[in-house]
This record gives sequence, C-alpha cells and structure tokens, in this order.
Amino acid sequence: MASAGSAVGLGNIWKFPYITGEYGGGAFVLVYLLTVAFVGFTVLIAEIFIGSHGKNDAVSAFETLAPTNKTSWKYAGFMAFNGLVIMTFYSVVIGWILYYIFALLDGLPTNVAQAEAIFGELVSQKVATQIFWHTVATAIVMYVVHRGIKGGIEKVNIYLMPALVTILISMLIYSMQLDGFSKSFNFMFAPDWAKLDSEAFIKSVGHAFFTLSLGMGALLTYSASLPKNASLTKTAFIVTLMDTGIAIIAGLMIFAFLFEFGEAPAKGPGLVFVSLPVIFAQLGLLGSFFALIFFLALAFAGLTSAVSLVEPAVQYFISRFNMNRLSATLVSGTGYYLVGLLALLSYTQSYGEIFSIAGEPIFDILEHTTDAILLPLGGILMAIFVGYVLPKDMVYSHLHKEMGKMYWLWRASLRYVAPLALIFMMLNLFGIIKF
Ligand code: PHE
Repeated sequence: MASAGSAVGLGNIWKFPYITGEYGGGAFVLVYLLTVAFVGFTVLIAEIFIGSHGKNDAVSAFETLAPTNKTSWKYAGFMAFNGLVIMTFYSVVIGWILYYIFALLDGLPTNVAQAEAIFGELVSQKVATQIFWHTVATAIVMYVVHRGIKGGIEKVNIYLMPALVTILISMLIYSMQLDGFSKSFNFMFAPDWAKLDSEAFIKSVGHAFFTLSLGMGALLTYSASLPKNASLTKTAFIVTLMDTGIAIIAGLMIFAFLFEFGEAPAKGPGLVFVSLPVIFAQLGLLGSFFALIFFLALAFAGLTSAVSLVEPAVQYFISRFNMNRLSATLVSGTGYYLVGLLALLSYTQSYGEIFSIAGEPIFDILEHTTDAILLPLGGILMAIFVGYVLPKDMVYSHLHKEMGKMYWLWRASLRYVAPLALIFMMLNLFGIIKF
C-alpha cells in the first residue's frame, strides 16, 4: 500500500493530464503505456529486488550486494538524493493545493479569466502566501516521516489511499454520463502520430519513470522492510497496475469535464487549478463539493508520495551517519525546503528573472532534470546492476520461483530492452538523434 501510495501522486492527477494535453493526447499516452509495460515494470522488479535483498538504505544496499567494485557501486545509491531534488518543486505544488482547499471554500471562480487570475496571482504575485503553504506542506511531510515507517508512513497510506481511490472513482462515474466523456476517450486513446516528436517522446518516457517512483530508490527503501515471503513480482505488478489505473481514471475524468464545457486540454501546469474549478462552478452545489474533494484527493496523493521522496535520504543519514530519525528528517527537510524557495520564487514576477537560468525558471529546470535525466539514469544503473552485475543464481533462485517461464522474458527485457530504450531516450535528449 505504501509503495502504491508512493507511485500514485501528483504525477498521476496533476501532471499526467496536463502533459497529455500539451503533447496532444493518444500518441503520447501510448508511448507512456508501452514504456510502463516494457521498461517501467521490468526495472521496478529490479529495484524492489535490490531493496528486499539489500535490506538497508540505497547506498548500503548497492555496496553490500555488489560482488566486486563495491565502492564504485556505492555511488549508484546516491540516487536516494533525487527524491529531495523532486521535493523542491513537489512541495511547492502541494502548497498550491493546500491553498486551493481553503481558497475554494470562499466560492469557485465562474469564468476562465477569473480562474486564471486566481492561479496566476497566486503563482506570480503572492510570494508570502506561497511560502506559507510550502512551509505547511514541508511541516506535514516532515512530521509524518519523523514518525517512522510503521507509525507515520504506513498509517498515512492506509487511510489516505482508499479515500483517494474512492473519490476519483466516484468522479469518474459521474463524468461518464457527460457527452464530453466519449471525446475524452478518443483524445486519450486515438493516437495522432503527427504530434509525437522527440520532445513528446522524451517527456513520455521520463513521465513513466516519474509516475512509477522509479530510479531514485524510493521503492528500494520501502522494499527493504518487505516481509520475507512477499512476492516481489506481485508487488511490482500491483503498484504498476494501480498507478496506471489511477492516471487513466484521472485523465479520462478531467478531459471529460474539459470537453463537456468546451475548454482546451492544453493548459499547462495550471490545468487542474484553472480549468477544473470553473467547470465545477457550473455544477452548482455539487460542483463545490467536487472541487473540495478533488483537491483533498490531490493533497492526499501528493502527501503519500512526498513521504517516499524524503525517506530514502533519511534512511541514508540514519544508517550511514548514525543520526536519529528526527535529525535525519530535519536535515533532509531543510535542504529541499530552502532550494524549494528558489523554485517558488522563480515563477514570481518580482524574482523570476533572478532565479532563472538562460530564461528558464529554476522550477522547470529542476523538474526537467529529474524526469529526463536523473530518474532514467537511476533506471539504467538498476537494470545493469540486476541484469549484469549481481550473480545470476541469486536473481534466478528468487525470481524464477515467482515468475516461472516469464522469468526469461523479464531477464531479456532487463538486459536489453530497458537499457536500450533508456539510452535511445538519452540520445534523443542530447539531440544526438532526432525524429
Ligand atoms: N510517483 C510520484 C508521482 O507520480 C512521484 C515520485 C517520484 C515519488 C519518484 C517517489 C519517487 O507523483
């Protein structure tokens, strides 16, 4: 449940719909689904394998398991810090969501111009308000993480995940009777290949990693406490299924509402903050209720992922530096909180220019670097580690029991398909090949 809680996050409900909108729908969704199935799921099993056998933080896990070159492999474990990089902007977005939960209680905006003004003003003008909510978000996350896995992280997931699923499924059922639903279905599942260029391809592969929480040691750290008899393949399968299911449900539902009320799907990061509230406003009282539970669901999803973004670094500090959990949480939390302030300021009118590099706000740089470079790089390292470095027998004896003949398919996918797909993506990213 905690791993599913990590995977299902803002990536599914906030990011997936808006990037699908920006990159034109069906073709983007198809590449994303193919990556999830053939690269994501494969590497996910490898990551969980490393965690459940290493039984420690990411750095120690790589170090203990590597049969040779232990000190070099140890560095692969520093992917545990990617989570803090993600948290710099993730926490700012959770802050926006918390702000919305309260702001919307005052009434919903009735037209797009008004909604754009509310979101635009928040992001570009209201510096103190944003800092306040970024601080609240950080405090909540740090509180949960400092309570530990059993007392904090598992508890939050056990209550919030079912609540989130119930809210989203109810909204999906409502949206199914709208005329916009069939348009939404077509938009998401009828691929328009003309729209798939190099950039959309990179975004789509990167998102598959981001949404599965892959390539930074979050699921590795969680699986260090998996019970001995837990099936790794089944765990990976359930996480992948839930994560993909929730993204598709959120996408179908959000686009159904958008098309029903004649809104364009390409609205960028403001999509759920601008278009949805206006749409909900047209539904009267029911709409206000939807708006409230939708943003609550979003906050829950964000929170359960955020704790998993911080935990790998915390675990590292605890086991390598003998820190107690509270200090480890404070160090990690303060680190991302401060850099998060720069991300936050980079979108504001007054400080935007100072906190941009070559015209790109730090917020965007942090986001692109994580999903286009850091997470896929983490993925390649894990694929190589489990596919080539770990003793064959060790992997075989555990996973062949679980998978049967499928084991060979998985192994081939891990050794050839996943690294090649990721290298192809990197070559694209650096402009070495373009299509
Ligand atoms: N998977 C989370 C989401 O979709 C984000 C995340 C990435 C969490 C990497 C942990 C590790 O929002």
